[in-house]
Amino acid sequence: MAAKKLLILPGDGIGVEVMAQVRRIIDWMAKKRKIEFDISEGLLGGAAYDVHGTPYPAETLEKALAADAVLLGAVGGPKWDDLPFDKKPERGLLGIRKDMGLFANLRPATVLDALADASTLKHDVVAGLDIMILRELTGGLYFGEPRGIETLPDGTRKGFNTLVYTTPEIVRIGRVAFELARKRNKRVCSVDKANVLECTVLWREEMIKLQKEEFPDVELSHMYVDNAAMQLVRNPKQFDVIVTENMFGDILSDCAAMLTGSLGMLPSASLGAADAQGRRKALYEPVHGSAPDIAGKDMANPLATIMSFAMCLRYSFDMATEADMIEAAVKAVLKGGLRTADIMQPGKAKVSTTVMGETVVRELDKMV
Ligand code: NAD
Ligand code: IPM
Ligand code: MN
Repeated sequence: MAAKKLLILPGDGIGVEVMAQVRRIIDWMAKKRKIEFDISEGLLGGAAYDVHGTPYPAETLEKALAADAVLLGAVGGPKWDDLPFDKKPERGLLGIRKDMGLFANLRPATVLDALADASTLKHDVVAGLDIMILRELTGGLYFGEPRGIETLPDGTRKGFNTLVYTTPEIVRIGRVAFELARKRNKRVCSVDKANVLECTVLWREEMIKLQKEEFPDVELSHMYVDNAAMQLVRNPKQFDVIVTENMFGDILSDCAAMLTGSLGMLPSASLGAADAQGRRKALYEPVHGSAPDIAGKDMANPLATIMSFAMCLRYSFDMATEADMIEAAVKAVLKGGLRTADIMQPGKAKVSTTVMGETVVRELDKMV
């Protein structure tokens, strides 16, 4: 079998620290399971700006398009906050998502048994939770035109962005949602703001039409985004798949992360359209950012990134066995009582990023 081409973009801040733990697992896979990865590293975000003067070098996109999958840590940080807008690290991330056509961002919020008491919410509200937030990733308010900041003739300044979706954009994300639901509990909740925003009136109409025409076996419901934010903390288990606009999904997924115990627990997969062979361009990354407040302290939780790698094995490389092994190893480490600071609980042992990564590998070792 040809080696699987993996591009690793550690990025900035804790991105570098958590990605180092994934490298341990990749090395383990090569040594203990003879799985060959053809790995290259690239620069994105602040790290790229420091070397190339741009957060998004052309060679990073070239490498990403040539890879079978991309793994990303996180980008951004105070060091680059005052740069002009188009040089900010976040522009690199948004650019690569758009240029790779990664319109479907899967953000699964799963509460692992060992962490059912780690959430700020009550045990019964979150125990056993398994929901999928599907965030549209290359359209909506993040990418709509016109956008910008202008000065009007009277000197008033005006800042503006545009919420826009076309029917093909709505239908393609809708299809992913219904297909995901078919493999789960067959329920899709489409989250919009159709009481206020015309764009999401269209979104709702298209979801209804799509369900009727192609997915009558899947139940479709609708919810306004403000209510959805409230329902996520009131009774998250009512959801199966949530599908929503780009910015709504950004906000709701951080909120869902806290159901699982920490932002440091939420992995994600960003997928493009399937080609004739069923292959999709894909980038895997934790939902969290570069966490400047804890960067450089070896205290970040690497599990979201480790589980993003498991998603990579599952979705891009058809390696369900190895993905299962990684997820089982993560569960075993947590069951054994190790916690990074963000998920620390009374009576448990607080460990560093490095020790958490090493212990996941030790658990993998027990499986072969
Ligand atoms: P953040 O996600 O970086 O951090 C929010 C809070 O969660 C912080 O208190 C942080 O310490 C904590 N946290 C996040 N990940 C953690 C982990 N793995 N383990 C333990 N604690 C963790 O969000 P922010 O502070 O709003 O943004 C910081 C920078 O990251 C900004 O530049 C922002 O643009 C960028 N960002 C990047 C991404 C990405 O690359 N995908 C995502 C979000 C934010
Ligand atoms: C995320 C982040 C990004 C987003 C930023 C850093 C561009 O918050 O991946 O959730 O808003 O999409
Ligand atoms: Mn976000």
